[in-house]
Amino acid sequence: MTETMRKVTRVIPPQMVIEGADVKLRRSFGPSRANIFDPFLLFDHFAFNDPIEGPITGFPTHPHRGIETVTYMLEGNVRHRDSLGNTGVIGPGAVQWMTSGRGILHEELPKRGPNGRVDGFQLWVNLPAKLKMSLPRYQEINADEIPEVVDGPVRVRLIAGQYGSQTGTATEIAAQPLYMDVLIESGGEFEIAIPAGNTAIAYVFQGEGLFGVDEQGEGEFVEAAKMVVFGDGERLKAQAGPAKAVRFVLMAGTPFQEPVVPYGPFVMNTDEEIRQVFEDIRNGTFAKDSAI
Ligand code: FE2
Repeated sequence: MTETMRKVTRVIPPQMVIEGADVKLRRSFGPSRANIFDPFLLFDHFAFNDPIEGPITGFPTHPHRGIETVTYMLEGNVRHRDSLGNTGVIGPGAVQWMTSGRGILHEELPKRGPNGRVDGFQLWVNLPAKLKMSLPRYQEINADEIPEVVDGPVRVRLIAGQYGSQTGTATEIAAQPLYMDVLIESGGEFEIAIPAGNTAIAYVFQGEGLFGVDEQGEGEFVEAAKMVVFGDGERLKAQAGPAKAVRFVLMAGTPFQEPVVPYGPFVMNTDEEIRQVFEDIRNGTFAKDSAI
C-alpha cells in the first residue's frame, strides 16, 4: 500500500497585531479554546525592517505559565532576562526553547543586526496537563549546535525532532515536535515522513513554491509570507518554484487532545487554573522558584 501524501487544507495570511511595548507582529494564529493546531498554540513572525515600523521596543517583563515559547532568530538578536536570573542573547540562527512550566517572568528585547534588520519567529508549544506546573527550564541553542543537512538543492536546519538519521538539538519536549528550517533551491524538491494523526504546518517566509504535492504532482502554490496547514497523511512534499527558491519552517507534533483555556501569556486546562494564576500573582507565589 502506498503512503498517503498530505494535501494543503488552508493557507493563512498572517495578521498584523500589536504586542508588548508597541511591537508589530505578523501573527498566523494565537491560542484559542478551539485549539485547532494542537499541540501548537501560537506562531508569530517579528521583523523591524520597514522604517514605518518605528524604533525597536520589545517585550518588557511579562509572565508565562503552562507553555513553551520557542524563539528562532534569522537576523538581529534578542536579549532576554528572566526571574530565575538567566540572561543571554539569542543571535542569528540560534534558538531559545523556554519551558515556562509553573511560571517565569521575563523580558525579551530585540536588537538590529549589522545590516539593520531584525527577523525571527516565536512559536508557542503546549504542555500537557501533567507538566503545566513543572519547574521552568531553558534550552539555549547556539546557531552552530543546530544540525544542518544538505542534500542537493535542499538544506535543512533541524531544531527539534527527527530527519533521516539526524536528531534535532532541542530534546525532552513533551509534544515531541518536529521543528525545522527548510530551504529548497529553485527546481528542487523536499519530502519527509510525518506520522498520520500529527498536526503539520509550515510558515513560508521567503520565495514561493508548491506545497502538499501529491502523487500526480499537484499541489498548492504559496508565496511568502503565509502559514500553510496540511491535512492528514503520512508524507509531505514541497517543491521550489522554477525560478525562485523557497524557505519555510516546518512544524509537526502529536495533539495532546486536552481542553485549552488561554488567557494572554497563560495557557491552562480549566478556568479555575486561570483564576489560580491571578491568585498566585496577587499573593506572590506565581514564580516562587524564581529570584524575583
Ligand atoms: Fe515571553
